[in-house]
Amino acid sequence: MADVESAKQESRIFNPPANLVKDAAISGMNAYRALCAEADRDYAGFWARLARENLDWHKPFTQTLDESQAPFYKWFGDGELNVSWNCLDRNLANGNADKTAVIFEADGGEVSQVSYRELHRRVCQLANGLKSLGIQKGDRVVIYMPMSVEGIAAMQACARIGATHSVVFGGFSAKSLQERIIDAGAVAVITADEQLRGGKHLPLKAIVDEALALGGCDTIRNVVIYRRTGGNIAVAAGRDLWLHELVASQADTCEPEWVNAEHPLFILYTSGSTGKPKGVQHASGGYLLWAALSMKWTFDIKPADIFWCTADIGWVTGHTYIAYGPLAVGATQVVFEGIPTYPNAGRFWDMIARHKVSIFYTAPTAIRSLIKAADADAKVHPSQYDLSSLRILGSVGEPINPEAWMWYYKNIGREQCPIVDTFWQTETGGHMISPLPGATPMVPGSCTLPLPGIMAAIVDETGNDLPNGQGGILVVKRPWPAMIRTIWNDPERFKKSYFPEEFGGKLYLAGDGAIRNKESGYFTITGRIDDVLNVSGHRMGTMEIESALVAHPLVAEAAVVGKPDETTGEAICAFVVLKRSRPSGEEARQIAKELRDWVAKEIGPIAKPKELRFGDNLPKTRSGKIMRRLLRVLAKGEEITQDISTLENPAILDQLKQAQ
Ligand code: PRX
Repeated sequence: MADVESAKQESRIFNPPANLVKDAAISGMNAYRALCAEADRDYAGFWARLARENLDWHKPFTQTLDESQAPFYKWFGDGELNVSWNCLDRNLANGNADKTAVIFEADGGEVSQVSYRELHRRVCQLANGLKSLGIQKGDRVVIYMPMSVEGIAAMQACARIGATHSVVFGGFSAKSLQERIIDAGAVAVITADEQLRGGKHLPLKAIVDEALALGGCDTIRNVVIYRRTGGNIAVAAGRDLWLHELVASQADTCEPEWVNAEHPLFILYTSGSTGKPKGVQHASGGYLLWAALSMKWTFDIKPADIFWCTADIGWVTGHTYIAYGPLAVGATQVVFEGIPTYPNAGRFWDMIARHKVSIFYTAPTAIRSLIKAADADAKVHPSQYDLSSLRILGSVGEPINPEAWMWYYKNIGREQCPIVDTFWQTETGGHMISPLPGATPMVPGSCTLPLPGIMAAIVDETGNDLPNGQGGILVVKRPWPAMIRTIWNDPERFKKSYFPEEFGGKLYLAGDGAIRNKESGYFTITGRIDDVLNVSGHRMGTMEIESALVAHPLVAEAAVVGKPDETTGEAICAFVVLKRSRPSGEEARQIAKELRDWVAKEIGPIAKPKELRFGDNLPKTRSGKIMRRLLRVLAKGEEITQDISTLENPAILDQLKQAQ
């Protein structure tokens, strides 16, 4: 963990530029402290004020926080609103009707613009179309879409009619899709014929067909298909419909379904340390409040800004900072279909220049790969592009190492743009710990301080506060509006995972370790403390990958660990015992390839182990427990210096040193 070490040692401080401080939503540290003090003084009153100021309520709430069934907290519980109304109709009423909501850039470079009026029309038509299929408030709809205006419209249309969406990232396999459809009990899937990424046509509808053919998806009545490429697909009569045909005859207004603030807006599956992915359930009111507010606080969004978040709508970042947050504040945003390296690794910088992007939000893994590309080819170096429109940069999804931070600051931000290193999670709904661009002095590699009202702290194994300078477990001490409400279908798992009894059942456990700087109190995230890996900012459970591997007929046993990787942050390293003898040479390489492809089929290509090693056994204690810490050392290629006296089979370590 060299990066964590260098982040902890980091002492350089970068102040926000004076011109930005002057007009910022939270201007200067005193303004930040005043908001924190307001939350300390009257926690419920603080959130109630913000919810009234930032959202439009159909029926105003009178209760702010209901803790009577903790940890199943309720926010604004007797209020009613509609998320899509707040994102669209409100903008039509506010004079933003003709403002561009989305600048869409296709994989091949074609650009189209959609105004708030036009987006509203498309969402209403699709909402009416979904209603014509009998989809109602409370039904679940799975969305398996490429990055597109239609993908956003599908999410907004569900929100409009009170259906709960569950977006599945387009890189997940048929099996993963099937599991999510079944768990959510979805009545329909909205998909596309294909997606286009880096010039390649990738099937989506065919994967939906495969998922449904795997069986068990009995709740599905319809599949709605957006025609993206015109590629050849099968259309099942009576079940499958083209999106353009479904909406063609629909009215272009749709009265929103007013829902309770606690109504489930979406379920998003994410990896945990054990078992199958969990369906993180978010509510409507509290989630939208935080989406809107963090756009203002963390990104200091202003009417003239061009905002660009490079995430995919299949992840939480694409939910909060593409599908909801920017629209809730009437912003103009860029939505990009493609990948950062096509047609070349200058694509991001070229797009920033062409669209005059002023706020740019991406992941450290993308930055690191673009650093490499710029070093290798001067033509795609950011200095070749006019990046002068930028005023704020953001980072999300994994720790940003100080070296990448400095490169981003100098080469993309020209030493004039604050970098907001936003720490948060699928479960938190929005930013939790982050610098504020017009207030917080920044330290590379530190996500600095919690947003006002977020009671983040570091505790030991028994839940007691630790002093600054001592590393421990990251927790949040009070519920906040955008927090996860439960795990779909599994409230017990929700309690156990996030509010365990060992911590008194009251502290939200993030699953990350952290340390606060002795002087500044700044937070540095030291990484997951459970069996969750972060590969290119994608969250993967080691158990999920192990289950996929042992499902292969050749595999007897498997253990998966993370290994530090220069570009992807962590890489997946799998140790495998076959049912037959240990292979070597060409045969081992063949089997390794077969197993990698198998994992891609079982979960998705993002879960493919980068490295596979075969042994006759795994290092185990006498009681049969796999010694993962030894596997982590082996994966790193380091010599084992730890005590291995409890190891049943020390000779096995030599075998496992070799990658295939
Ligand atoms: O380990 C933390 C890491 O990503 C995890 C959450 O992953 P996910 O739910 O997929 O959400 C990603 C997008 C918000 C966290 O538990 N993480 C996220 N942001 C940061 C981070 N680690 C360090 N610094 C960050 N800024």
